[in-house]
Amino acid sequence: MNAPIVVDSVSALRAQVRDWRRAGLRVAMVPTMGALHDGHISLVRIALGRADRCVVSIFVNPTQFAPTEDLDKYPRQLARDLDRLREAGAHLAFTPGVSEMYPAGFATKISVGGPSSGLETDFRPNFFDGVATVVAKLFLQAAPDCAVFGEKDYQQLCVVRQLCRDLDLPVEIIGAPTVRDAHGLAMSSRNAYLGKAELDTARKLNVILRGAAAVLSDGADEAGAVDAAAKALVSAGFQKVDYVAARASVTLGPWQQGHDGRLLAAAWLGTTRLIDNVEIPSA
Ligand code: PAF
Repeated sequence: MNAPIVVDSVSALRAQVRDWRRAGLRVAMVPTMGALHDGHISLVRIALGRADRCVVSIFVNPTQFAPTEDLDKYPRQLARDLDRLREAGAHLAFTPGVSEMYPAGFATKISVGGPSSGLETDFRPNFFDGVATVVAKLFLQAAPDCAVFGEKDYQQLCVVRQLCRDLDLPVEIIGAPTVRDAHGLAMSSRNAYLGKAELDTARKLNVILRGAAAVLSDGADEAGAVDAAAKALVSAGFQKVDYVAARASVTLGPWQQGHDGRLLAAAWLGTTRLIDNVEIPSA
């Protein structure tokens, strides 16, 4: 495969995408914060199946990190990321610096309602403002026809769909299934923080969620099943559970027995916060 074109300015990105469009090519985007793993590569593959050209942005977005979070230690490995993108066949890597995305005097914030309320927002109040603002900028900069987001960050996927709907951004949002290791652990750049014993515990997250989703699907009491799952996470070795919650799949409003739902969770292993979610099939 050819190495992707690497650009770090909005003007160079726009010029390249404009050339592709003039040639009648369809463009897909995969927004990332780098430290690419198999989950990201699966998004690139899906993008390549839906478009002629694939743009991958690599930008560790400071506005979605709280001051207490891991912005400084977030893994950055551009050379390795570019190798992975070459192997996957991505056409362009957009690698802006912070001053390109947020020049001096930047003063705008996009705040999405609806699916952003609760769950992550209860613990990371500014997170989705940061995500929505940077995703809107990336879409306006690259003007892709479609963009692929992983279901691993399920609430983020719902928020991005709402953002595009509400602001009439003409980008088709494609949700991609979570890529998991052989034990079911969802791929995440933050898994790199985990030691061996923590990895063993982390791998129980999806098992516990799947068990609870099955019980809910069979008609168990929601509060009881969610509480049991949170307790099981603690027994498995998670130090703190931010939430385990059943929600309606599209709106993320309250889930109703007999309807499609999603069981979402966030829990801590040492200083690492993991999130995951599974479907609650309508029985
Ligand atoms: O999911 C991520 O990696 C980030 O939240 C995103 C969508 C690239 C925005 O910075």
